[in-house]
Amino acid sequence: VAAAAAADIARLSGVAHHDIAVTLGSGWGRAAELIGDETASFPATEVTGFSKPALEGHVGTLRSVRTPGGKNVLVIGARTHYYEGHGVRRVVHSVRTAAATGATTMILTNGAGGIRESWKPGQPVLISDHINLTADSPLEGATFVDLTDLYSSRLREIARGIDPSLDEGVYCQFRGPHYETPAEVQMAKTIGGHIVGMSTALEAIAARQAGMEILGFSLITNLAAGIQQTPLSHAEVLEAGRDAEPVISDLLARVIGAL
Ligand code: 6GU
Repeated sequence: VAAAAAADIARLSGVAHHDIAVTLGSGWGRAAELIGDETASFPATEVTGFSKPALEGHVGTLRSVRTPGGKNVLVIGARTHYYEGHGVRRVVHSVRTAAATGATTMILTNGAGGIRESWKPGQPVLISDHINLTADSPLEGATFVDLTDLYSSRLREIARGIDPSLDEGVYCQFRGPHYETPAEVQMAKTIGGHIVGMSTALEAIAARQAGMEILGFSLITNLAAGIQQTPLSHAEVLEAGRDAEPVISDLLARVIGAL
């Protein structure tokens, strides 16, 4: 299925080979605009295996963008979440498609809750590792894939070369779609987590299986339940994304330019 999707992308974009792929999470929807010149843009639904976006703030568009350095970047503005219930294969289809287009670097972005009290909504942080709390895996059968340095320390260093103030933390993927209880957030903190979200970990596993080097960014859209004293809302998450847009657009473009 990924090979068919990659063939669709080559046909629709006129670009036979992509070097880098980036998945845009909530808050990151327009963050790709400074990466370079758009070669092509098309609805994800025209590509084999991609489903309609479930959610406001998740733009169902795929783009091919050429960086000033001449690299072709596949911008994936369509994410299928695990909580949609279509199964983990659908969740990682975009990552496997990216690999099939030739991309060797996978940049995964998301909007997420912060556990560190010093973090502010609108702040981007690097993902240093993850804890997969979905109890699921994109791998089937006896595929014993190593996940050491899953979020490439080499790529994180490049990102910190662009913005030395970037913090990093361990991302906990919960199933969602509800936000965590304060007790679950305390559990995540106790087991070594710093960021809570509903994506990315399963995608990173599939990207590693496909042999890609991975860079992960979370936009802290709010502090997690019980860390912030006010109730969480999806509107707040979207608003933090809009406010952070100029900063994270610039960051993403400069990091990609440095790869
Ligand atoms: Cl607090 N939790 C999860 N799972 N996802 C989020 C979030 C929190 N804030 C934004 N996305």
